[in-house]
Amino acid sequence: MISPTLLVLLGTLGTAQATDYFFRFVGGNTVTNGQRLRFNVSFPIISPGVTPAPYNPDDHFARIYNNASVSPSTLYVVPTNPHPPPVPGYYGLSGAEGVPDAYRLIQSYHPSDEGTPFLYQDWKLEPSCSGNGTVLLRYGKDPHGEKRWIAVKETTNSGVEKWVPWYVKPTAANIANLTAWDYDIADLELVVTTGQVASNAPGGVIE
Ligand SMILES: *[C@@H]1O[C@H](CO)[C@@H](O)[C@H](O)[C@H]1NC(C)=O
Ligand SMILES: *[C@@H]1O[C@H](CO)[C@@H](O)[C@H](O)[C@H]1NC(C)=O
Ligand SMILES: *[C@@H]1O[C@H](CO)[C@@H](O)[C@H](O)[C@H]1NC(C)=O
Ligand SMILES: *[C@@H]1O[C@H](CO)[C@@H](O)[C@H](O)[C@H]1NC(C)=O
Repeated sequence: MISPTLLVLLGTLGTAQATDYFFRFVGGNTVTNGQRLRFNVSFPIISPGVTPAPYNPDDHFARIYNNASVSPSTLYVVPTNPHPPPVPGYYGLSGAEGVPDAYRLIQSYHPSDEGTPFLYQDWKLEPSCSGNGTVLLRYGKDPHGEKRWIAVKETTNSGVEKWVPWYVKPTAANIANLTAWDYDIADLELVVTTGQVASNAPGGVIE
């Protein structure tokens, strides 16, 4: 059976209209499971993630759209408060921290300034193998299924616990980093939006 989510997605790709998405963690831990990625500016790195409840009403859900008529494999950031930017933003994978085979998910307004590697033009929205209509976020070629999302625990500048997605292929080269991190294995699942963008609403969206 094809779920409503997948039907909406397929309809979107078929008619080349844009639909907005969120992504939510599935699995990980009790903080992350089922929670949509929220956006908060924490310079120098703009990392969407999940904090423990209660949630800050100033947080904005990291709302994304895919303009299939331009590129089916680029994910754009929907501008919301506090400062809707004049240029499109992009979801991308940043290797700027130099951990081998490991990339932090970030929202970028200046892909050319992110250093290398910064990967943002080969996203894939893949139906889950479970056949239950869930669509999962993947990047690039991965014929042996070696890459996975993990939720890494960080502390924001203001001392808040925050779990952020990294896309990693566990290898000998990054085992020291993974061992040092507090992380849980998770996945990122697509959620189709039902509400309008509303810059003044909590989370940047009325649903
Ligand atoms: C998608 O791209 C087309 C072609 O550039 C453009 O006309 C359209 O406005 C875009 N749609 C959205 C929602 O950005
Ligand atoms: C679909 O299957 C995946 C993988 O088994 C699971 O994580 C997810 O919760 C399921 N979703 C629904 C809506 O059943
Ligand atoms: C955003 O920053 C505020 C203030 O530091 C904090 O209370 C909130 O939990 C943060 N949210 C996220 C998703 O980082
Ligand atoms: C990764 O591990 C190396 C070697 O231990 C260390 O120098 C580096 O700071 C770590 N990077 C991150 C982002 O944790």
